[in-house]
Amino acid sequence: MGCLPGAGWLNSRPATVPGRAGDHGMIDDGMEMDLKNTIAIVTGGTRGIGFSIARTVAREGARVFICGRDMGRLEAALEELRTSAGDSVDGITADVGRYEDCRKLIERAVERFGGLDILVNNAGIGFFKPVDRISPAEWDELVATNLSGVFYCCREAIPHMRRRGGGYIFNISSLAGINAFPGGAAYNASKFGLNGFSEAMMQDVRYDGIRVSYLMPGSVATDFAAAPGAKPAEAWKLTGDDIAQAVVDLYRLPPRALASRIELRPSQPPRKK
Ligand SMILES: NC(=O)c1ccc[n+]([C@@H]2O[C@H](COP(=O)([O-])OP(=O)(O)OC[C@H]3O[C@@H](n4cnc5c(N)ncnc54)[C@H](OP(=O)(O)O)[C@@H]3O)[C@@H](O)[C@H]2O)c1
Repeated sequence: MGCLPGAGWLNSRPATVPGRAGDHGMIDDGMEMDLKNTIAIVTGGTRGIGFSIARTVAREGARVFICGRDMGRLEAALEELRTSAGDSVDGITADVGRYEDCRKLIERAVERFGGLDILVNNAGIGFFKPVDRISPAEWDELVATNLSGVFYCCREAIPHMRRRGGGYIFNISSLAGINAFPGGAAYNASKFGLNGFSEAMMQDVRYDGIRVSYLMPGSVATDFAAAPGAKPAEAWKLTGDDIAQAVVDLYRLPPRALASRIELRPSQPPRKK
């Protein structure tokens, strides 16, 4: 399996810096982390928040591998990303709700770029209705996408990150992961679950040099849970680029520092009447 000696993760850490498996020394360098030459996977990178994250980390010098279920959207996203990032962006169709697809996604990214430093678990779906109107099939699909898919991807990614001496996993949760609301039972359950999963995993992998953060955005201006273009543009909402900037800022913190959870909300939502 590839292990690029030039990876940004290793580049930005002096060889003497501890923090590897079984090493309980303090990480004492204040060095800022650099995305240049890192290798990143962004699930659901074909539009919305994931596309913004893929574009931003590619601009920062990362090689980026994306996925989505729809081939047309994947091709369109790759074409757009390649106008500025060229060959350093690639991707495949994959449904993160299926373990075998996640296994292939990680494998193909590692084959294509030679390793893995960053995993952004962003793919997610939502529907909003009371419990007695949710079909079991809808429930299964939502939980498979928003929660099981994150587990599948992390399970496959962690050994590759360990091999490179560390990495970073970002899980895109939601403020719906701490605030329940009527009609949100399935979505709330998936995001509350994702938060617990992220906190436990962070403790599983921290001494391998793998940092884990989960981000909880409020309303972001995307087509989430709607037909493309069906939602009106609302200037008060966050943008995908705001979330992407948070990902880059978190990554840049010195290796000894971990902002393990972030709430990012519109600063001026409409006043409640
Ligand atoms: N928009 C918001 O207000 C908001 C707020 C907080 C949190 N979030 C979270 O942010 C994440 C991204 O949301 P978004 O607003 O960017 O949504 P979006 O515009 O609907 O984009 C979702 C992306 O995920 C992909 N996707 C969906 N299901 C997938 C699956 N099973 N396997 C692989 N890819 C899949 C989609 O591509 P395909 O359809 O082609 O598969 C698309 O690329 C989600 O986890 C969501 O819960 C969104």
